[in-house]
Amino acid sequence: MRIFSGVQPTGIFHIGDYLGALKQFVQLQEENHCLYCVVDLHAITLPTDPKVLKEHILDVAALYMAVGIDPKKQIIFVQSDVPYHSELAWILMCNTYTGELSRMTQYKDKSKGEESSPAGLFTYPVLMAADILLYDTDTVPVGNDQKQHIEITRDIAVRVNNKFPGTFVVPEGRFLKEGARIMSLDDPLTKMSKSSPNPFSRISLLDDEDTIRKAVKKATTDSFDNIAYDEKNRPAVSNLLTIYSVFSGMTIEKIVKLNEGKGYGAFKKDLGEVIITALRPIKERYEEIRNSEELVVCLRDGSERAYALAEKTMKRVKDNFGLGTVS
Ligand code: TYM
Repeated sequence: MRIFSGVQPTGIFHIGDYLGALKQFVQLQEENHCLYCVVDLHAITLPTDPKVLKEHILDVAALYMAVGIDPKKQIIFVQSDVPYHSELAWILMCNTYTGELSRMTQYKDKSKGEESSPAGLFTYPVLMAADILLYDTDTVPVGNDQKQHIEITRDIAVRVNNKFPGTFVVPEGRFLKEGARIMSLDDPLTKMSKSSPNPFSRISLLDDEDTIRKAVKKATTDSFDNIAYDEKNRPAVSNLLTIYSVFSGMTIEKIVKLNEGKGYGAFKKDLGEVIITALRPIKERYEEIRNSEELVVCLRDGSERAYALAEKTMKRVKDNFGLGTVS
């Protein structure tokens, strides 16, 4: 199967990105042909400092490799290095309705309270659809927050196929049962995000050990005196149990059993160590890769391979739409 996914280079990954998306990326590479993209064109939908963006692009690419994606077997590349993404986005925009874009919750959230916002923020989902459809993708591993974007991608693909049969492969989203939505440590009702002003609301993959211990210690809990999973009534502790479970590989039932009769102090101490142990090898690999020449060589090679695949799809799309001078 062809797998495609992307991450915005807007900061260092947090454990939500890792557990919701990146862990799947690594699992899927065993039996599939995968493309993992650093979506820098999406990152400029909101104001960005060019110097910081350049660094974040390399940070994200190095983290892809540090979590275990093999750039020789799979393709790791930067979106703007393959200009076909923008070209296909335009063609898709002509087949997308403003009504459907204005229903996107991410757009509504990000433009909230603004009298006017960048048109790129509005058309963001169309560029994402172009990313996916450009590579004849079968499966898109993502966290739950991307569900609406996958749906609109499918709608656009089906709409174009109805006009011009055989233009696109209609992709499926792939969401995990556990980890698909990791919540903030300071507010279990909002998703963990790179943009929250409180640094203790998240744990970054590169945080040092003391920061991780401190963030877990500060994490919101509740006033019950036992550790139990109940997403509806006890969202904070349920979120911590999910994080514990996905990092340790233990079932939630087993963790609850291990913590019978214990308080939050002991539970959080264990959780901090579980996270530190899981992130240690990632951090070590990241340090090796981030400043190596290999990183840029791998990205150049990845862009070339992605370009060749994209070129084939674009030829088919342009032919089907009757675009260009000759076919
Ligand atoms: P981004 O950069 O916001 O997030 C990257 C991936 O991490 C997942 N994720 C989470 N999963 C669980 N819990 C959380 N708290 C959490 N926070 C983030 C996201 O679901 C995502 O899978 N629009 C995309 C980037 C994109 C893309 C694409 C993805 C652009 N083109 C094509 C797939 C295919 C985004 O903003 O992800």
